[in-house]
Amino acid sequence: MYRIVFLLLLVFLWTGCGNGDETADPNGAGATDGSADLTDFELEHGIGPVTERLNLGEVDLEKAQRGADFYDSRCASCHRMENRFVGPPLGNATENRSHEFLINFILNPEEMTNRHPVGQALLQDYLTIMPYQNVTKEQAVEIVDFLRYYADTGEDLRN
Ligand code: HEC
Repeated sequence: MYRIVFLLLLVFLWTGCGNGDETADPNGAGATDGSADLTDFELEHGIGPVTERLNLGEVDLEKAQRGADFYDSRCASCHRMENRFVGPPLGNATENRSHEFLINFILNPEEMTNRHPVGQALLQDYLTIMPYQNVTKEQAVEIVDFLRYYADTGEDLRN
């Protein structure tokens, strides 16, 4: 009898600890949708590695050209400039969102889709989570330069 009580106690403690660990994990997967705890910066400029304004300055044509080539190989399969496709059109992205927002989205699409209200709304509309495309921050800036050049001039550097 004693042993059974002892065993039950062990099981109880063991499962108790398990639960304790789960709730203590601050990054617990799928804990909440969490959009309520975004900072003002995150709401306006996105969640990701960019945490302050970048002030990109004038478009650098060389960077924009590199961005165009990269975009063609990694993004064009889902995005068109002017029309809805697998994902939203990006021809006017730099007019609708800040540069920081776009870079954070490109570098951190899953969290942007799960936790940011804009990403959540896009997911509702497009029903696909954009997969991270193995992009460096430098490459993300170049893509944004490509999109800025397109918005400024109407010229698609991939042509
Ligand atoms: C497999 C398809 C797919 C690929 C590849 C893809 N995207 Fe997306 N993208 C989506 C979808 C779907 C959404 C909208 C839903 C969401 O939020 O995930 C989206 C959303 C975005 C947004 C947010 C647009 C807005 O209105 O704020 C940006 C910016 C973006 N993508 C840029 C890129 C860039 C740049 C690349 C290439 C590095 C890329 N995407 C590659 C599918 C894709």
